[in-house]
This record gives sequence, C-alpha cells and structure tokens, in this order.
Amino acid sequence: MDQQCKTCNVQEGCSHKGQPDDRCIEELIRKDRLNKIKKKFLIMSGKGGVGKTTVAVNLAIALSLRGKKTGLLDIDIHGPNVPKMLGLQGKRAAGSGTELSPIFIPPSLKVMSIGFLLEESKDAVIWRGPLKMHVIEQFLTEVSWGESDYLLIDAPPGTGDEPLSIAQLVPEAEAIIVTTGQEVSLLDVSKSITFCRKTGMKIAGLIENMSGFSCPHCGKDINLFKSGGGEQLALKEEIRFLGAIPIDPEIVNCGDNGIAYLKEYPQTRGSDIFKKIAIELGVEEYES
Ligand SMILES: Nc1ncnc2c1ncn2[C@@H]1O[C@H](COP(=O)(O)OP(=O)(O)O)[C@@H](O)[C@H]1O
Ligand SMILES: [Mg+2]
Repeated sequence: MDQQCKTCNVQEGCSHKGQPDDRCIEELIRKDRLNKIKKKFLIMSGKGGVGKTTVAVNLAIALSLRGKKTGLLDIDIHGPNVPKMLGLQGKRAAGSGTELSPIFIPPSLKVMSIGFLLEESKDAVIWRGPLKMHVIEQFLTEVSWGESDYLLIDAPPGTGDEPLSIAQLVPEAEAIIVTTGQEVSLLDVSKSITFCRKTGMKIAGLIENMSGFSCPHCGKDINLFKSGGGEQLALKEEIRFLGAIPIDPEIVNCGDNGIAYLKEYPQTRGSDIFKKIAIELGVEEYES
C-alpha cells in the first residue's frame, strides 16, 4: 500500500490494510521498541568458530564499560553460546504479558538469548525457518531493551534464516563481518559480503580474528591461521577494516568460564583492540 497507515504509520508493507489487528499492533511496538535503540549491528560470518560470539560479547562489554547502554541479542537459535560466555547459564528471562525482560549485567548491558528460555542448556531447538523467524521477531518486539545506545546481534554462521530475518525486520542494522585470515574462512566471508549487498544491509566493517599469536616462550609472533588476509579482503571489497584481534589463550579461558576478558585482562593486546573497535563504532576514547 502506498499511503501511510493511520494506525501504525508504516508507509509500505503494512499488513493490516487500514484495520487495526494484531499484526498492526506488533508493528507499532516494533517501531517503538527499536526506535529507542540508536545503533544496531549484526555480527556475522560465513564460517562457524571464527569468533563471532567472542567478538559480540567482548564488544558489548567494551561499549558498556564506556557507559553506553547496550543490548546483546543472541540469535543463534541452535547453538546459543552467549549465556555461557557471559557466565549467565541457568538464568531465566522473566516475562509478563507481551514483555520479556533481558538479563542485566551492570553497569549497562542487557542480554537476551534463546538459552534463557530453554529448560536445560543441553535442550535442542529443532525448528524450521518460519518458527525461527517468529522467535527472532519476538526478541525484537517483546524484549524491554529500553532507551539504548547500541544493540549487538550475534548471528549463527552463514547466510540463512537468522541473518535474513534481521535484514528484513531491522533494515537499519549494519553488519560487522568476522573472519580469520585463512583462505577457507575468507572464501566463506565473501558470501556474507554478497548477502549484505543483495539484501541492502550496510557493512560497518570487517574484523580479522585469531590474527597472530605471541609465543609465551620465545615471544615471537606465530601466524596460526595466517594474518593479513582480512585486511586485504576489506581493501579489495572497499569495506572498513575494524581491526585484527590476536589469539590469546585467556580469551578461550574467559569464554569457557563466563568471565569478561576485557575486565579480567584489561592491559592485553586483545583488550586494546576490542576497545579500539568500540571507538570505531562511535564511543569516546577510553581513559588509560
Ligand atoms: N582471539 C581469540 N583467541 C583465542 N581464542 C579465541 C579467539 N576468538 C575466539 N576464540 C575461541 O574460539 C572458539 C570459537 O569462538 P566463538 O566465538 O564461539 O566462534 P563463533 O561464534 O564464530 O562460532 C571459542 O572457544 C573461543 O573462546
Ligand atoms: Mg557463535
């Protein structure tokens, strides 16, 4: 419909055709809830295990440590890792009416994941596309994110239903693409870039993770997963390069134990890069 709907003010794609119905109210809530969040980023990659969740969790902490009101939404429906990496396993999201409360981590981080809705962490979600899209829609419309500066959305690998739902439901979201330096990952990430271009999703930048490892014995840098490929790809594709995060065994330990790496190891190269990337995303410089 071309005319602006009087009920939900949606210009195009309003499904209630002038008559208020549930869908219209959803649209109202969606616009209202999402409009209260200034910047939205989707953390994605073509490959699993390259560090999307690690990046999403640590960037969310970096933003909240700088005083930004930040939401972290885990849309990895089949493998939600955000609760474990933040030490929130076993937490349950409280709900009343059409409102779902995220888990709060002081000073200013709100987290939501399907993991907070499952009975047991080993429960498996066996859903096809439309159901997944519905739950993602609920996360966006029913979670009380409140007035926020940032929403980071942690996606599963690939270009399937979950990132597609975000492209459709949150067209203003920008992609942060994560890769490692080796060619198989770079090849898969090219598909993520194509996905963004085809769906019209803006790309905020590319991160090369697991880039170099400083040997604790001899101090030399070792490039386990190669290094520099992400930056080259960013250059070739004319995408902003946000930074290269080194391999740090403490990142693994912190992730496995639900400890915030940035708080526990603030003086490391890894923490410096996470803060630098947060600055690239718009926060002010950190006090040293
Ligand atoms: N820079 C890094 N240094 C060391 N380990 C890392 C780093 N980034 C991620 N990891 C580890 O790699 C594994 C996969 O990371 P994860 O964030 O779960 O990837 P994805 O979300 O892309 O599947 C985790 O065990 C995580 O702790
Ligand atoms: Mg993940």
